[in-house]
Amino acid sequence: MATKIEFLGHSVFQIHTAGKTLLFDPFFTGNPVASVTADAVNPDVILLTHGHGDHVGDVVEIAKRTGALVISNYEIEAWLQKQGVENTHSMHIGGAHKFDFGTVKLTQAFHGSMLPDGSNGGSPAGIVLRLEDGVIYHAGDTGLFSDMQLIAEESLDVAILPIGDNYTMGPEDSIRATQFLSVPNVIPCHFNTWPLIEQDADGWAKLIRENTEAEPVVLKPGEAWTLD
Ligand code: NI
Ligand code: MN
Repeated sequence: MATKIEFLGHSVFQIHTAGKTLLFDPFFTGNPVASVTADAVNPDVILLTHGHGDHVGDVVEIAKRTGALVISNYEIEAWLQKQGVENTHSMHIGGAHKFDFGTVKLTQAFHGSMLPDGSNGGSPAGIVLRLEDGVIYHAGDTGLFSDMQLIAEESLDVAILPIGDNYTMGPEDSIRATQFLSVPNVIPCHFNTWPLIEQDADGWAKLIRENTEAEPVVLKPGEAWTLD
């Protein structure tokens, strides 16, 4: 069965793979572009890139309701456990772990990670997800960094990159990131959620086509793309 990548708005992605549903950065409540509400998702696994409210989002409620395994850095795990989330697995930058659905590796990201209540959320991360039929990189929130060339050695099939600017890299730096990552497909995120991070997705796609070998995959919230 092919892996399906579904965009739910902002940085929220749901991966349907080998009978499991994996949910990245479940921010629904207060997300003006979310395509579904928090009570409509039923993930087996939740993956968190960092502690900001627009990424941890509804994780506590969803994890308690579904019993999903929550994978995050150590500091965010401690915060989750204080709120009664029991099914957790913590990792840290550079570490990989093989789960029953695939292998997760945390990579560096240049950003913040403070949790919504002011708790220390540790270091922000990107996530490399190695599945049976492909390798997905969710960059999280980050600026451009040249060590994306090392992440390229993971032989990525698709990269999910923020392009909104202001809080993360913008369109121009995402072109450089795509070059560094040597990735054949790139999906933009973290834009058009609020006026401050408004971007022209078609203009961005044109830049990707003109300046990289990658195929731009622009998804509207609710749309999905299949990794073959
Ligand atoms: Ni953030
Ligand atoms: Mn963010």
